[in-house]
Amino acid sequence: MPFKDHLTQITNVLVIGCGGAGLRSAIEIKKSGLDVCILGKRPKTDAHTVLAAGGINAALGNLDKEDTWEQHFIDTYFEGYCIGDPLKVEIMAKESPYLVKEIDEWGADFAKLKNGKLDQRFFGAHKYRRTCYSGDFTGLSILKTLLKKSDELNIPIYDNQYVTELLIKENTCFGAMSFNMSSSERTVHFADAVILCTGGHTRLWKKSSSRKNENTGDGFYLALKAGCKLIDMEMVQFHPSGMVLPEEIEGTLVTEAVRGEGGKLINNKGERFMKNYDPKRMELSSRDKVAIANYTEIIEGRGTKNGAVYLDISHKSKEFILEKLPNIYRQFIESQMLDISKLPMEVAPTAHYSMGGILVNPEDLSTSVNGLFAAGEVAGGLHGANRLGGNSLAEILIFGKRVGIASSKYSKKIDRQLRSNKTIAYAHENINKFIKNGDELVRPLQHELRLIMWKYCGVIKNETLLLEGLSKIEIIKNKLNDIDIRIDKYNCEDLALIFDLQSSLYSAKATIMSALQRNESRGAHQRSDFPILDPSFQFNCLVSMDENNNLKISKLPLKELKENLKTIIANANREDYDLKDKLLE
Ligand code: FUM
Repeated sequence: MPFKDHLTQITNVLVIGCGGAGLRSAIEIKKSGLDVCILGKRPKTDAHTVLAAGGINAALGNLDKEDTWEQHFIDTYFEGYCIGDPLKVEIMAKESPYLVKEIDEWGADFAKLKNGKLDQRFFGAHKYRRTCYSGDFTGLSILKTLLKKSDELNIPIYDNQYVTELLIKENTCFGAMSFNMSSSERTVHFADAVILCTGGHTRLWKKSSSRKNENTGDGFYLALKAGCKLIDMEMVQFHPSGMVLPEEIEGTLVTEAVRGEGGKLINNKGERFMKNYDPKRMELSSRDKVAIANYTEIIEGRGTKNGAVYLDISHKSKEFILEKLPNIYRQFIESQMLDISKLPMEVAPTAHYSMGGILVNPEDLSTSVNGLFAAGEVAGGLHGANRLGGNSLAEILIFGKRVGIASSKYSKKIDRQLRSNKTIAYAHENINKFIKNGDELVRPLQHELRLIMWKYCGVIKNETLLLEGLSKIEIIKNKLNDIDIRIDKYNCEDLALIFDLQSSLYSAKATIMSALQRNESRGAHQRSDFPILDPSFQFNCLVSMDENNNLKISKLPLKELKENLKTIIANANREDYDLKDKLLE
């Protein structure tokens, strides 16, 4: 074996993932008096959270006094096509005002009104202006603030650590195995509790708003292997506006804040085409609808020659654009030498967010494995079939804090830490098995998978495409037996890539199997062979893994609404929503 055996590290709670959810949870754990340690694959200042650009939602009513948490609940639950976990939605809608004010006070320094209150912009499908923001770099402001707070609390953050395995014995998680991505040194982390905050899997699509080596489905695979279930994996959000040029950064996000600040979508005939899809809300329609509208315009020949539609904000002054959208302004100058205060941008749908994820208890974020928790994008249940922009940043703070509290309580409750040498030996073996010299290289296989997911499991799917996609994934999976993984003391990138690919293949399979199960169209899940919403599909799809590592699919009945939520829904103004395809009863 080309490694020293391993280092050992012991903590009360181990957090895997150094984005917003991971940091927020660690802050709470440390505040409770326990030891916590964070492992991150990326540099801590550049976690994926920095890409959440346009804002964070809280029903503060600073501009639109009528806004309430109940209205935020209704918008989120209805626009998620009523398959989200109602309790999780309720928690988010109720708690986000407190967490948003808190992070602002900690230093996020969101945009303010003249009266000192937080400014709030429109985001798609929110009834009121509810999205608090820092220009178009809200995620970055939040991440920097959380890092500063973590630093003040002396929370250790080890980046460059790749977690290959959760250590499980008797359905209890007692830590994780990781290796250092520069030195290949392995560490066995012992912990009373482990929290997964590892993000989603949207880098699996050719056009993606995620960057190289992030959002490769790692947490989904770790959780499946540990014995957890995944929920709603078919619900992958395509953001309406990704860049199309240059090809190397195809899919990079053009924030919804552009539309929130008045951007117009225009086809090659000069028409503001949203009038044909959602004449009332136009560009501020829900993300699923705007993404499908953009996609339809492009495939029906009303797009640009680069396969895009126009997004135009040039009717606003340059000063306004520089104040509200400074990053987008620079992004287009840097990459295309295009001045968006003079000319429209070209945009097209891009894979953006995994709305499904690990099945968790909505209150304490626990999973079906003792001592294992999950929060942020890796956890499912909040968004249903369509996520409202700005809810993901709220999610990471609210459920990050909650999972910190819950895992601390769990850690304080148990009186000894479980360990199993057999489990650790198995985790070593699972790394060793990949270190061999075969014919297949990981990067080309990753690239192939991204093409497959875009072509066979893209914005619009059907059974034939999905089945073909599934069989192509199997072919790639078989190639892992003949993989070439070379490591030396200076470089073990191959090893991280093969683990990424393994996770991606299982996540891709889980997504396609769930999409095949749902023979209807609902929100982000669009099937050309079943184009309408079917009332008999009011359930959540679950994926689990059996002892032979085969994925299994099952159905989970939707949760009952509590009486207070039933009343809120009964009193909602239904004319505000396009409810014909949402089946509330
Ligand atoms: O478009 C955006 O700024 C993305 C925000 C989000 O996904 O919440």
